[in-house]
Amino acid sequence: MLAIETSCDDTCAAVVDGGAIKSNLISSQASAHAVFGGVVPEVASRHHLEFINPIVDAALEQAGVGLAEVDSIAVTRGPGLIGALLVGVSAAKGLAAATGKPMVGVDHLHGHVAANFLEPDPLEPPFLCLIASGGHTLLAGVRSHGSFDVLGQTLDDAAGEALDKAARLLDLGYPGGPAIERAARDGDPDAFDFPVAMTNDPRLDFSFSGLKTALLYAVRDLGDETARERTADLAASFQAAVVGQLVAKLRRAIRRDGDWRAVALGGGVAANTPLREQVAELCDAEGLELKLVARELCTDNAAMIASAARFIEPTVYPGYLDWDAVV
Ligand code: KG4
Ligand code: ZN
Repeated sequence: MLAIETSCDDTCAAVVDGGAIKSNLISSQASAHAVFGGVVPEVASRHHLEFINPIVDAALEQAGVGLAEVDSIAVTRGPGLIGALLVGVSAAKGLAAATGKPMVGVDHLHGHVAANFLEPDPLEPPFLCLIASGGHTLLAGVRSHGSFDVLGQTLDDAAGEALDKAARLLDLGYPGGPAIERAARDGDPDAFDFPVAMTNDPRLDFSFSGLKTALLYAVRDLGDETARERTADLAASFQAAVVGQLVAKLRRAIRRDGDWRAVALGGGVAANTPLREQVAELCDAEGLELKLVARELCTDNAAMIASAARFIEPTVYPGYLDWDAVV
């Protein structure tokens, strides 16, 4: 299967055979967006347009297959930036039209969950999956390969979005999550008492906007110069509050439902080392199996889209005029 993912700022193509990754290429646009301190949708669309064909060719070449040998074509159909999605969906439609192969539209979040189904060591449902990315934060109850229940989700910002905004405030650059993680290594996570929101709320929902405001006030109170000197402490304390909330809600979900035997992570924030370590400690304490996919499968990629597509009935479209239904 050939898969394409262009929902945000990475142009991705992959070839996957069953659950085995044959190629998984990512053309990152981070440097193009860094000067703006965040993703500019129009810039993202233009980069996708420029790189989509070369990256599909490169993915096929690295996998050692021609387009004729591909069984079907998978593509992220949403959610994401509409202009960015359009480039991927149009490319997939073009390839499907040219070859007569079936095409599968995949939900991006299902893709993050399905990264856990890839080899080696694919995880079998049921399991509890924490998805934390730049656009979403949710707890998914995964009881089958093809679908999941949303047990709780963010009421405002996503965890990755909060990290990106904090990095911008602290002048640490973009993307913010890795920048905060790096800066935090030299800092004290207890230096600032940032709020870990929602921990007493019985629901499994998240909230990060108050934390962002708390950081803004802390920086204002310290003054520019002192805030700069204490960047590492601010980053470490902020990261601790984000990770603390994610882990607290995961713990609540494990204890509330009681019957989960395994936990998995997904989304870009799942690449965060303190989060991975604390979830590992939690799973140890609760006696649950933990599946940690490689970091490059946590952040956006096309192999996870192929992985999800395996469990969705493909559609063979009779003519291009009917294909609008896919988007
Ligand atoms: O899943 P993803 O690649 O794209 C979306 O679907 O949004 O996630 C991107 C998010 C960004 O907010 C980025 O700052 C965050 O994941 N991220 C991290 C790390 N690597 C990426 N956050 C914390 N620690 C990291 N190491
Ligand atoms: Zn994503």
